[in-house]
Amino acid sequence: MMSIVIRMGDIYESVMELAKRRGFVWPTSECYGAVAGFVDYGPLGAMMKRNVENLWRRFYVIREGYYEIECPTVGSESIYIASGHVKGFADKMCQCPQCREYLRADHVAEAHGTNGAACLSAEDLAALLHGLPCPACGELLENPAVFDFNLMFETSIGPGSQRKGYLRPETAQGIFTDFNRLVRFYRNRLPFGAVQIGKSYRNEISPRQGMIRLREFTQAEAEIFVHPDQKEHPNFSAYADYAMPLLGIEQQQKSTPSILVTMKDAVAQGLVANEYVAYYLALTHDLLLRAGVDAEKLRFRQHLPDERAHYAEDCWDAEIFSERFGWVETVGIADRTDYDLRAHAKESGESFTVFIPFDEVRYETRRRIVADMGVLGPQYRGRAKRIADALAVATPGNEGAEVTIDGETIFIPKSLYREVEEQVEIRGIEVRPHVIEPSYGIDRMLYAVLEHSYAEEMVEGEVRKVLRLPPDIAPVQVAVFPLMNRDGLDEIALSITGILAERAILAQYDDSGAIGRRYRRQDEIGTPFAVTVDYDTREDGTVTVRDRDTMRQVRLPIGDLPETLASLIAGTLRFDQL
Ligand code: GLY
Repeated sequence: MMSIVIRMGDIYESVMELAKRRGFVWPTSECYGAVAGFVDYGPLGAMMKRNVENLWRRFYVIREGYYEIECPTVGSESIYIASGHVKGFADKMCQCPQCREYLRADHVAEAHGTNGAACLSAEDLAALLHGLPCPACGELLENPAVFDFNLMFETSIGPGSQRKGYLRPETAQGIFTDFNRLVRFYRNRLPFGAVQIGKSYRNEISPRQGMIRLREFTQAEAEIFVHPDQKEHPNFSAYADYAMPLLGIEQQQKSTPSILVTMKDAVAQGLVANEYVAYYLALTHDLLLRAGVDAEKLRFRQHLPDERAHYAEDCWDAEIFSERFGWVETVGIADRTDYDLRAHAKESGESFTVFIPFDEVRYETRRRIVADMGVLGPQYRGRAKRIADALAVATPGNEGAEVTIDGETIFIPKSLYREVEEQVEIRGIEVRPHVIEPSYGIDRMLYAVLEHSYAEEMVEGEVRKVLRLPPDIAPVQVAVFPLMNRDGLDEIALSITGILAERAILAQYDDSGAIGRRYRRQDEIGTPFAVTVDYDTREDGTVTVRDRDTMRQVRLPIGDLPETLASLIAGTLRFDQL
């Protein structure tokens, strides 16, 4: 059957119209007036989202072997004091003096040609905004006051508002706060990783970008804990020769295009900081293409020094091009160093280290102070033992040593202790790992896949709308139709639907309307395969199987359907091989 791709109108409008009408994405709580920054996933959207998440799990949990954990979305204040979010997780905001609309100051500046406005100070932004039109009402902004707005949603835990909490702004912190237990789970060996998929919350100032900027969104994050001096990925060879376009700092500064480079060369040339970061750049490229992102609309951009988070050694964004939104940051891949574990160690008093034993026990000569308890005891009574313990690790001066007990500094003259030299056995070392973090925005991925897979074509004089989703991402995998809703064809089709369900294939039975219309309905939601039961089926036990993309049909025995369809969905068999 001939199909001709036709020119589409505004693709965002077309995709969102389809997404709403067919039950992918709906405005939330519409009956009370939708709230910006929140969406509902309808039946097909929720199913497709689960498929994207499960693809992510196939890469990170099954292939990489990083176990998934699930932490609460509400966290106590201490977590976010330690992580730095209470103090620093803010965007710059101003209010239009005319219409009172709150505006994100850097976005207004960027819309008027300033690059990297997010890195500017409040004063510089205020100066830039002066005289620009308010994006909401068009009146000119006059000396707007620009100030920080913390993006965390605050809440209280328990009655009486006694304990402050926050909705998590990233899933990562749950993995960091579980670090000491994870170390034991992984039997005190580095490297290891843990992942988490779940909702995170950011109280965005003025989210007007549909699924791209949500106040409640789904993150899929992996935190991989590595020895700080060993950033060679044990399985680097799997992606060493993987070539992909990278837009490094130098290319951005010189305004030259991305360079196509293998991961091996990217590390060797110092373009990417280490093998771990390079490995997850390639894995992310691989995963995004498998999810249905168009390779031509995907790039990996390195953060410029002034946009990189203060803790990150190297950071890259997978950016996906959308016709409406331009390049959208969808995945961040960062070397977070030991910043997070150090911060939680300081706040909690726990170690956040891994004990790494040496291959062979080592010996060191150490000087130690041994207190004369015969004198210290009567003189300091109840405090003598604590003074002796403090002395043991103190650094003595010529005349004596100082110790601090209960905030009081006490000078102990050298006549009250002696210094001894000891051979100490050292079995290993406490190491605070560095963290490599690939962090995926699932909602953004989902939108990109919808936009990139959407097509309109002329087929036999009619417009066919089709989502060319990968079979394992499509919400419905197989449609089953009886040609007629009688003569036993419906019963055979229903029984095929049941057989496919037994095989964990999501099959949808549909007997309403002309067969052509049923195909169109399934094309529009991306169903990759359709099985039709006709009168020949009653004679010879065969059915037609139709491929969504080529619209080609083949006849297969019913008995072959589960195996063949499962292979087509898994991608181990192509339709043209049938
Ligand atoms: N964990 C990184 C982020 O949420 O941006």
